[in-house]
Amino acid sequence: MNPFKAFVIDQDENRKVVSRMGTLAPEQLDTGEVTIRVHYSSINYKDALAATGAGKIIRRFPCVGGIDLCGEVVESADARFAPGDKVIATSFDIGVAHHGGYAEYARVPAGWVVPLPAGLDLFEAMALGTAGFTAALGIVRMEDNGLAPANGPVIVTGATGGVGALAIDMLAQLGYRVVALTGKEAEGDYLKMLGAAEILLRATIDFEKVRPLEAAKWAGAVDNVGGQILHWVLATMKQAGTVASIGNAASFNINTTVFPFILRGVSLLGVDSGYMGFPTRQRVWDRLATDLKPRHLAAITRTIAFDELPAAFDDFIHGRVKGRTVVRIGA
Ligand SMILES: NC(=O)c1ccc[n+]([C@@H]2O[C@H](COP(=O)([O-])OP(=O)(O)OC[C@H]3O[C@@H](n4cnc5c(N)ncnc54)[C@H](OP(=O)(O)O)[C@@H]3O)[C@@H](O)[C@H]2O)c1
Repeated sequence: MNPFKAFVIDQDENRKVVSRMGTLAPEQLDTGEVTIRVHYSSINYKDALAATGAGKIIRRFPCVGGIDLCGEVVESADARFAPGDKVIATSFDIGVAHHGGYAEYARVPAGWVVPLPAGLDLFEAMALGTAGFTAALGIVRMEDNGLAPANGPVIVTGATGGVGALAIDMLAQLGYRVVALTGKEAEGDYLKMLGAAEILLRATIDFEKVRPLEAAKWAGAVDNVGGQILHWVLATMKQAGTVASIGNAASFNINTTVFPFILRGVSLLGVDSGYMGFPTRQRVWDRLATDLKPRHLAAITRTIAFDELPAAFDDFIHGRVKGRTVVRIGA
């Protein structure tokens, strides 16, 4: 293997985060049983926080960014994988404390690797990436807690984001009536095209004046934003409703009451895609390749070249992107 191209995140002498396109030697790959020639990676909000230093994400400097990667195995010391196998590796320490997907090659522990399921190609796997895996995990967790289309509508907050858009598409095709809560008035048609039956605009709700229990509306909720909006979601859940708490795009705080839990039997389910192990990880990817596979993946996704990566992060930090971004590395 020759030296290869990589996007490396490092610190300068003042401990300021600096990132740049560079070259890595094969011996600089991290330890792991599986070496992968990376075809595609993606950009998640967390990747933008890491690459720009806007968030304290990187736990080991220098680190190749990119929490998602997929490609072909070139070497494996684990019997489960052989050269030529198509595989996905997302989360765990990837792109945070272990060289990630923004490089032509990656080496990771076999326990982090999922075989590409039949029904997905490598591009689709990264169009989904951590965002799709997380949206699906939230849905699976809600279903495991009794959610079904007959129970009533499901609300998705942060609707135009990567997780939100994919969750709308997946829920709609499962037969749920999906209500999209968004701050972007201009994106109503886009959200309806993805499958939302109704659009609620954030500006039309006073989230500061929410009673402990409001009119009961939702059987399920995918919450990407936290804060006062999550409090409102909890207060508007139907009896025995289930809420998947996924993100904190608005706030990591929640100031709420116990009433939704003790008077309506609402369940607040935590969703952590990062360290979700097997067999759930495989089960969620298998569903992403079958009944949860979004019908509008192409409309949700744009593709950029590897060289365009350094200029792409700012739009994520300033909330200017919609849907998913795939990075073409070596495909
Ligand atoms: N738990 C996990 O394992 C996991 C995995 C992946 C992501 N996440 C988290 O999930 C969240 C969504 O991820 P993503 O990749 O979809 O992010 P994203 O693409 O940046 O989307 C976030 C969306 O939230 C809404 N939003 C942004 N700022 C807001 C504010 N101040 N108040 C209310 N809504 C706001 C916007 O949608 P609208 O304008 O349409 O409302 C935005 O498009 C993030 O917090 C991310 O860190 C968690």
